[in-house]
Amino acid sequence: MKIGTPLSPQATRVMLLGSGELGKEVIIAFQRLGVEVIAVDRYKDAPGHQVAHRSHVIDMTDSHALLNLVNQEKPHYIIPEIEAINTDALAMIEKKGDAIVIPTVKAVQLTMNREGIRDLAANQLKLPTSSFAFAKSLNELKIAINSGIGYPCFVKPTMSSSGKGQSRITDASKVKEAWDYAASAGRVNKGVVIVEGQIDFDYEITLLTVRAKNAKGDIETYFCEPIGHKQVEGDYVESWQPQPIHDVALKKARDIAKKITDALGGLGLFGVELFVKDDVVWFSEVSPRPHDTGMVTLASQRQNEFELHVRAILGLPVNTSLNRPSASAVIYGGHDAEGIYFAGIDQALNVPESDLRLFGKPKSFMRRRMGVALASADSIDEARLRAQKVAALIKPSL
Ligand SMILES: Nc1ncnc2c1ncn2[C@@H]1O[C@H](COP(=O)(O)OP(=O)(O)OP(=O)(O)O)[C@@H](O)[C@H]1O
Ligand SMILES: [Mg+2]
Repeated sequence: MKIGTPLSPQATRVMLLGSGELGKEVIIAFQRLGVEVIAVDRYKDAPGHQVAHRSHVIDMTDSHALLNLVNQEKPHYIIPEIEAINTDALAMIEKKGDAIVIPTVKAVQLTMNREGIRDLAANQLKLPTSSFAFAKSLNELKIAINSGIGYPCFVKPTMSSSGKGQSRITDASKVKEAWDYAASAGRVNKGVVIVEGQIDFDYEITLLTVRAKNAKGDIETYFCEPIGHKQVEGDYVESWQPQPIHDVALKKARDIAKKITDALGGLGLFGVELFVKDDVVWFSEVSPRPHDTGMVTLASQRQNEFELHVRAILGLPVNTSLNRPSASAVIYGGHDAEGIYFAGIDQALNVPESDLRLFGKPKSFMRRRMGVALASADSIDEARLRAQKVAALIKPSL
């Protein structure tokens, strides 16, 4: 495996489609290996734009704009970091052999839509999932709930992330509201929703799963220690690693993760979201890329999830081992404003074994994720307390 000199004709070039906080860390990991990076996002000065060799602002759902840019930049690898991308354009690029799409176009297509990934997981691979149905109208939604899904249930747009457009409803009086919210909030596939029966889990995990080449050059599947996390309104607020788990449940979780990632194919890191109750495990969803809850690995692992992704993509060996129990806690904007400050950083970083990422997003919203606090300790409980403390000491201000 060879890497050329960046900014020369020999450069190894990668293009990130989506350059948020996760893309920014992927870019930094590529930069450390001397790879030339082109960062693309829908708005100027996105976090990843600030650390790439070149940056572009385009509408990534526009096939023409995407194909033109790929033609101009000629990347060797295209790395989708978000779900709202024109996948027909990606399919054309992959077919022509112009660039490798990570992990595969099929994986990107299936995971951007809850219909695609549910069909693969539940119907084709027979993985255990919640009960679910799709609905194209309020009436279809009511019928689906009444004919088996029941209450409580979750209503979600088929294309969305970070809990957008998602509601948990406990009785019939809230169905219309949930329909209106989900049908309007979906990004591309407006007007189709999924309804899922609630799984009564003890805890939920992200199992970071890496498809990378081993010493013989064959693709092998590697697992990180499970990451536990806490979600509020469908958005992650805290994560920690390792999440203690029953041996039987861990084996089941790895089996599920192996099956779903084998089916998606390619090289790279995947975030497999699972629900666990005693030794029973359900598949929830999967990201074919680093996962937000996996930011904890910036503190916990020998190679964090971004480095693992980059190494896997380049065909390099990976090491998924844990260094130290750690936790992450999200820092929200707390203001709807541009150009905010973060005060109290000195006090915050006096917390033992703590660290911080501020993403550099130009615009803040009340509930926008602007940074993440990290901390390690002898135990997960202590690491969580430390990360929470760091996050609480950082004061977004005007
Ligand atoms: N069927 C379910 N049973 C129990 N809890 C659920 C169910 N569906 C969703 N949840 C809860 O809501 C959270 C978010 O759901 P989901 O992962 O489907 O949404 P998302 O918008 O893709 O979120 P993200 O992008 O942050 O992963 C889950 O992590 C879980 O805590
Ligand atoms: Mg999720």
